[in-house]
Amino acid sequence: MDSAISSNTQTAILVVAVAVLFGWLYLKLKPSKPNLPPGSFGLPIIGELIGWVRALESGTAYKWIEERVARHCPIFKTSFMGNRTVVVTGTVANKFVFTSGDEMLRSHQPVPIVYIAGEQSIFEVHGARHKLVRRAIAGFLRPESLQRSVPLMSSLIKRYLTKGAWVLPIYLPFTPYYRALAARRRIYDRFSAIVDERWRRLEYGSLSPNDDVITAMLSMKDEEGRMVPRPEILDNLITLVMASHDTGVSLNASFIRHLAMDEVTLKHICDEHTKILSETKDGNLIWSDVQKMKYTWRVAQELLRIDSPSIGNFRTAVRDISFNGYTIPKGWQTAFPEPEKFNPTRFEGASKSFQPYTFVPFGGGPRVCSGSDYACVSLSLIVHHLVMNYRWSMLVPDELVVRNPFAYPAMDLPIKVYKKEEA
Ligand code: HEM
Repeated sequence: MDSAISSNTQTAILVVAVAVLFGWLYLKLKPSKPNLPPGSFGLPIIGELIGWVRALESGTAYKWIEERVARHCPIFKTSFMGNRTVVVTGTVANKFVFTSGDEMLRSHQPVPIVYIAGEQSIFEVHGARHKLVRRAIAGFLRPESLQRSVPLMSSLIKRYLTKGAWVLPIYLPFTPYYRALAARRRIYDRFSAIVDERWRRLEYGSLSPNDDVITAMLSMKDEEGRMVPRPEILDNLITLVMASHDTGVSLNASFIRHLAMDEVTLKHICDEHTKILSETKDGNLIWSDVQKMKYTWRVAQELLRIDSPSIGNFRTAVRDISFNGYTIPKGWQTAFPEPEKFNPTRFEGASKSFQPYTFVPFGGGPRVCSGSDYACVSLSLIVHHLVMNYRWSMLVPDELVVRNPFAYPAMDLPIKVYKKEEA
């Protein structure tokens, strides 16, 4: 039983099959309830938050979950700052979480994230409002829109780090939470000025609703014809920064780190990009070139499988929910063949060798990540410019990967970079 649970846990964790259901049965949790999962609520008020944050910061978050799965079962209860929580792991759990509608499980992030992203962030709104905001955001992240941006993206690399989402929500000067909220206010003011400027230009007619994501949101109307209030637009711009930046930076770092340690994969990648570059007319990349970077994206997917930027997805139970009792369904233990092996070819071809809902780094269902195509294009372009021009080696070869809350090397990945001709 132990080894079954452990292999199940490892596999489940590798595929980001963790969902945390905040406030599960929030009004009705009674110890006498027969189907309440096992687990501990930890200390009064604070619950198990300190241990969880420590695990995130020391790169042992999977172990933290794995220990509880081994001690209890793949569904266990815990508590973070008074939020009664159920953690569910596994392929079946993924399907359950991603496909249950708003009337059963609602997207709801941990308190610090809600305050940093804003209470009207796309992560917090539901039903018709979610659809409306999602339409505006997703419209600009579809391949059709990205096509136009490839030449510009190819020339830009942004670095813009926000931290402090999985922190103790203690609002005292010098705490990470205090700094995170101060950063939110600065970003809010900056975006506010940009939104005002876009609004003036929209009114003046020098911009149209489809020019960028801000003009699209400014032009959105709900079913009663009302415009979306300015604070809601600003919350969603901040959400976009958070949703796109930290996940992207995490994946890029994981890629750079991996290539520094895996000569074989580096060679395959270099061959792919050298061929693509040799086929361009003038050395400038366009959309069709990015589409040829197939091996690069397979490596990215394999890295996402092994260590996804985010460790779980958050939902609040709207009503009492029964999820398979405590039975582990049959399919639970088979996720990926040879899960411990680094093998990008597992993502080759249309019919994959793994079950649906085993690989969910971008989530699934109506809230599937709107930026996955953007993530693919930007990573492919960054990798292209890196491997065509530079070589690098890690200065701290055994550097830990920690989570704050997204996976990132503990010392910010110090590397020695050489121009290719100097290498
Ligand atoms: C490696 C990169 C990325 C990863 C691993 C990732 C992962 C995810 C996941 C797992 C979700 C679903 C969360 C849930 O179900 O609660 C999500 C949602 C979202 N992501 Fe991403 N993401 C990435 C990049 C991006 C980028 C680049 C953008 C925007 C430019 C973006 C924008 C969003 C938005 C707006 C949502 C909310 C969708 C909704 O609620 O309808 N993401 N992402």
